[in-house]
Amino acid sequence: MGQLDGKVAIVTGAARGQGRSHALALAAEGARVVACDIAAQIESVEFPMSTPDELQETVRMITASGGDALAVTTDIRSTEQVQALTDRAVEDYGSVDILVANAAICGTGPLEQLTDAQWDDMIDVNLTGTFKCLRAVLPHMKRTGYGRVVVTSSMTGRHGNANLSHYSASKFGVIGMVKSAALEVATMGITVNAMCPTSANTPMLHNDTNYRLFCPDVDNPTIDDVRPRFASLNPMELPWLEPEAYTRAVMFLVTDPGHISGATLEVGAGVSAQLA
Ligand SMILES: NC(=O)c1ccc[n+]([C@@H]2O[C@H](COP(=O)([O-])OP(=O)(O)OC[C@H]3O[C@@H](n4cnc5c(N)ncnc54)[C@H](O)[C@@H]3O)[C@@H](O)[C@H]2O)c1
Repeated sequence: MGQLDGKVAIVTGAARGQGRSHALALAAEGARVVACDIAAQIESVEFPMSTPDELQETVRMITASGGDALAVTTDIRSTEQVQALTDRAVEDYGSVDILVANAAICGTGPLEQLTDAQWDDMIDVNLTGTFKCLRAVLPHMKRTGYGRVVVTSSMTGRHGNANLSHYSASKFGVIGMVKSAALEVATMGITVNAMCPTSANTPMLHNDTNYRLFCPDVDNPTIDDVRPRFASLNPMELPWLEPEAYTRAVMFLVTDPGHISGATLEVGAGVSAQLA
């Protein structure tokens, strides 16, 4: 018996990284998982995004462990594609009980040097795309009187970060949306929360652009060059946490009986202690 037997979960950004880890954990607890990802490159993003093979691999890993999952290639910026994703969950699995809105992009640069495309894509994916996912699933959750929504924000949604103004704005933005949505559905058996990771051991962190940002004084910085720089960002001096650390927080929120809503759960390696 899993804690989520009979439940249906949509996970966005499920092709790899934290999204894959969340999808595997949800399935291990018995949820049927609709794994969604754009599985393609967005031009303004300076590191490789996921591939169709990676999205299929998430589903393969779930089914190989005895779980039930399907993949739906979806760009969360598209109202039509997000609607089709939700329709597919309802048609194939009967409902949408859980949304883990995890998909996002990242990028770096001083505010005055950001291009319109960098700003617009960041807001379109991380904020507007996440809004479209919530908008599509909430009617189904209202119909059944049950829902668990977890939106992945960031510790950069709780404090500023030089060279991440567009990313930070999008991650502060989703917290405002989460709190407002939580109020709208508070009496309907639906909880809406944000989970705020610090650095994660995923391709969003480990890429040349990020390495150069954190080691501007080093030619062609390597993982060994960046490790102490990342470790200096939090009181526990941990360079990054594994995706499973964030999955534990997501699973806590989706298996909660329903009394936590509108909250921001920070998995910040101690950074929370520095915030009001
Ligand atoms: N990696 C970190 O250090 C870090 C830190 C704090 C917060 N986060 C957040 O954690 C979440 C997961 O990121 P990750 O670390 O696993 O990075 P990742 O890049 O490995 O995963 C993000 C996934 O989202 C997908 N995606 C991007 N745009 C999409 C779109 N328009 N439609 C559908 N899918 C799309 C990507 O293809 C990718 O598979 C994100 O919300 C990210 O902002 C990451």
